[in-house]
Amino acid sequence: MAGPTSFKTDIRPLFTERDIQGMIRAFNLASYEEVKAHAAAIHDRIRGIGGAVMPPPPPRGEGPWPQSRIDLFGRWIADGCPP
Ligand code: HEM
Repeated sequence: MAGPTSFKTDIRPLFTERDIQGMIRAFNLASYEEVKAHAAAIHDRIRGIGGAVMPPPPPRGEGPWPQSRIDLFGRWIADGCPP
């Protein structure tokens, strides 16, 4: 991908309505500020570090992300979490 990533274009579309509803008690995955605040913990959990892998496999979720998505989230962090 050319240029820096952004939450609006690259990261927000990764989260499904199911993800957002499933996690709303902890934080809002649709919110730039909240995903930024929890970015390191989210990056860990989508890799299965520190607890069960997120999103959970069926039937509770849509399963672990492909590596390309995990890499994209990591690149967004490395870019400084641009909005
Ligand atoms: C700091 C990061 C995260 C933590 C600590 C976390 C933790 C949890 C916990 C404790 C549950 C409930 C488990 C249970 O019911 O047994 C859960 C459910 C779930 N999480 Fe996460 N999660 C994180 C990030 C994410 C992310 C990034 C996604 C999506 C990309 C996600 C998607 C879901 C879904 C779909 C469920 C199922 C909700 C349901 O059962 O209705 N989570 N998570």
